[in-house]
Amino acid sequence: MLFIRKYEETDFADAEYVCLHCDDEEDDAETQEFVLHFFCDYYLEQEPQNCFVLDDGGRAVGYVICAADFDAFKPVFFERYLPLVDGLGEKRLEWAMGSIALYEEFKSEYPAHLHVDLLPPYHRRGWGSRLLVTLFDHLRAAGCPGVMLTTGVDNAAALAFYEKLGLHRLATRGTEVAYGLKLV
Ligand SMILES: CC(C)(COP(=O)(O)OP(=O)(O)OC[C@H]1O[C@@H](n2cnc3c(N)ncnc32)[C@H](O)[C@@H]1OP(=O)(O)O)[C@@H](O)C(=O)NCCC(=O)NCCS
Repeated sequence: MLFIRKYEETDFADAEYVCLHCDDEEDDAETQEFVLHFFCDYYLEQEPQNCFVLDDGGRAVGYVICAADFDAFKPVFFERYLPLVDGLGEKRLEWAMGSIALYEEFKSEYPAHLHVDLLPPYHRRGWGSRLLVTLFDHLRAAGCPGVMLTTGVDNAAALAFYEKLGLHRLATRGTEVAYGLKLV
């Protein structure tokens, strides 16, 4: 049976696997290391209370992971996670920092940001939508005024997905688009 539950520490390896295998592209080892340090581990390690997984028989096969407050995220991310991607590609870092700049630009109205990923067999079955609604309810109950995310301008599926869920476009910068949703 598939169901959504809170992330637990024991989901760490499964969640990292989801992060690396949510689409059909196979990244090289350096890219994989970068992606985990930059887009995944902070959330699992520092804000497990703001992460939810899709459970299939005890295994996490999808997640929504979140930093609830940019001002709390930034110092920890910069001190503990950014140094880990040093030497893993200047261009890649420049591209990824574009997302951080967007989070900072919109933090007063949208202090939270998220990432959502599912393994391919679980796509287009409504679970991504349910994960987001679960997180939105959780953040709303905690008094968070807004949540945002960034994605690639060429990720047509993701753009359609966020728009269907009622998020609106905040900005487009280069190859990245920011979407936001007010929660109060
Ligand atoms: C993007 C993703 C999280 C969406 O989750 P999902 O469970 O597949 O999406 P849902 O089934 O909840 O879809 C809800 C709506 O989003 C839109 N949508 C979702 N996937 C789509 C696709 N491949 N093409 C077009 N529209 C799509 C549709 O409007 C869909 O409603 P419908 O099925 O009634 O037409 C998931 O497909 C995924 O993990 N993709 C790979 C990783 C990724 O791109 N993550 C986001 C990066 S920022």
